[in-house]
Amino acid sequence: MLPIYDQKSRIKLLIVVLALVIGAVTVVYTNLLVSRLSEREQQQIDLYAKALRFTINTESDDTNVQFVSTEIIQANKTVPVILTDAEGNIADARNLDLPKGLTEQQRTELLQREIEQMKELHPPIVIELGAGARNYVYYKDSLILSQLRTYPLVQLAVIASLGIIAYFAFSYSRRAEQNRVWVGLAKETAHQLGTPLSSLMAWQEYLRDSERFRDEPIVEELGKDIRRLEIITERFSNIGSIPILKDEDVYEVAERAIDYLKVRVSRKVVFKVESLLPRGTTAKLNVPLLEWVIENICKNAVDAMDGRGSITLIIRHGGRQNKQIALDITDTGKGIPKSKLETVFQPGYTTKKRGWGLGLALAKRIIDNYHSGRLYVRWSEVGKGTTFRVLLNA
Ligand SMILES: Nc1ncnc2c1ncn2[C@@H]1O[C@H](COP(=O)(O)OP(=O)(O)OP(=O)(O)O)[C@@H](O)[C@H]1O
Ligand SMILES: [Mg+2]
Repeated sequence: MLPIYDQKSRIKLLIVVLALVIGAVTVVYTNLLVSRLSEREQQQIDLYAKALRFTINTESDDTNVQFVSTEIIQANKTVPVILTDAEGNIADARNLDLPKGLTEQQRTELLQREIEQMKELHPPIVIELGAGARNYVYYKDSLILSQLRTYPLVQLAVIASLGIIAYFAFSYSRRAEQNRVWVGLAKETAHQLGTPLSSLMAWQEYLRDSERFRDEPIVEELGKDIRRLEIITERFSNIGSIPILKDEDVYEVAERAIDYLKVRVSRKVVFKVESLLPRGTTAKLNVPLLEWVIENICKNAVDAMDGRGSITLIIRHGGRQNKQIALDITDTGKGIPKSKLETVFQPGYTTKKRGWGLGLALAKRIIDNYHSGRLYVRWSEVGKGTTFRVLLNA
């Protein structure tokens, strides 16, 4: 495996860990602020209750009462409080954001509901007035405090959504860049192959016409190699542009691709092509590109079997509503571990000494992007074999 994958997953892990640390620090810090502010509000409310008791129990013309009333009771502009007598009649309500234009009855109902909620948050403060009379002070967190309590959640949501946006932006730009590289390189390759290829063809013509070489088997062989080079050039030029898809006989294309491979690999590999669909069933495909895909998958299969085993290509219905055409290519090789079923399609991933890790990446591009189909590992068991599935549109 190329170290680039280790590195990439390490960087991803680092970013996730960093985000978690930032999140955790925010939560801890905000909780600290919350508990401090909560303590302060508790002190404020205790003072408020004491001030109330003082003003109720003292003659109202006392100057101290005036002072306490304005400086302490009226000064509480943040903590919502409701003052009731022993029977629950509401005497005063402060800092509650009540809607305007309520009737007296609506207001009372609303405040009663508030009292119920406040009871659940804190037990009311009791103000003993002597002779069994008492008042109750109900209160709850100030708006700031309750907002601060939810703040870490907001922050975490912001971090998470930033992460998601960044992830998609990066993967989009990376894909766009990859596209440019693939297409540019393919076009350039097709272009560069063009010149020597036409000159080779001219040479072949020349030999065919010459008395001396006309009957040499070499001319025939040269012709085959030229045909192969033409196919390769066609592949690159197809992948470097928007390829034309035509309705083609799937079985025929598959059989031709396998026939080509059969004679080029070890005899100990048994090839089989089978179709469960009626003869002549077509799919929308580009012949040079699909041949390339089949070749790449089969070459990997041969490698995975160490040159001994069987490769079976079965054509059947599959995919969306079972209306697509599926090519299942099964080998009896070493299999792919579960954790690598997706990774094998990434460019650069290889387990071979002399591999580039491009075969499957290219095949996937050809099927997914150029044929609007799908290529995936349908089944694999380590030590038993693998089935790759190509889905094409009918
Ligand atoms: N049929 C299979 N059975 C087991 N492993 C497979 C099979 N096909 C692919 N793999 C694994 O997936 C990896 C990637 O395959 P891919 O064709 O993309 O690259 P490669 O064959 O290593 O190199 P290249 O095709 O560029 O020469 C392989 O190295 C191999 O580990
Ligand atoms: Mg390969």
